[in-house]
Amino acid sequence: MRKVTLEMLINHPIVQKYVGRSGMEHAISVAEKAVDISADYHVSPDLAAKAGLLHDIGHYEWYQDGKWDFEKYKENDIHAIKGAARAHKLLVRLGENLPDAKEIALAILLHTDSYLPEGTLHLHPLQKLVAQADTADEEPSGGHHYRKIDFETARQRIILLDQKIDYLIKTTSSIQQLG
Ligand SMILES: [Fe+2]
Repeated sequence: MRKVTLEMLINHPIVQKYVGRSGMEHAISVAEKAVDISADYHVSPDLAAKAGLLHDIGHYEWYQDGKWDFEKYKENDIHAIKGAARAHKLLVRLGENLPDAKEIALAILLHTDSYLPEGTLHLHPLQKLVAQADTADEEPSGGHHYRKIDFETARQRIILLDQKIDYLIKTTSSIQQLG
């Protein structure tokens, strides 16, 4: 049994406020893609979905005179750091177990290297997976952040994804038991 479901997350005002800001449709698409590729990475579909859904929860709005200021954003952005901390706090508050909350937070911290100093990181599978799912959903000029979705459609997609994760967890554990 999962302690925290995606539905609990999407119903939470913190998720609605901050993920709504960076694009709910994009977040759900990344969560869906993350689940689809979770088996390739031998990663839990539950962790993949949560990291995918929350990966951009740390975004700040870089508007100047009603326009997105890309220069300012590029220079000052720390959305991955903020997102990791925000997601961790929320997950723990909702009752997520601490090792899982940490893994999800680390995947959010490392889903982009755009804010990091030059260097080579050895990423873990969950961290690579979220970056791949995110990149696969990106549009030129950040268009993916502006796609619209109404709350009911968002909720329905999240409920379906929760069901898919439960099914994947159940079938994987029964295969393990047979083995
Ligand atoms: Fe993203």
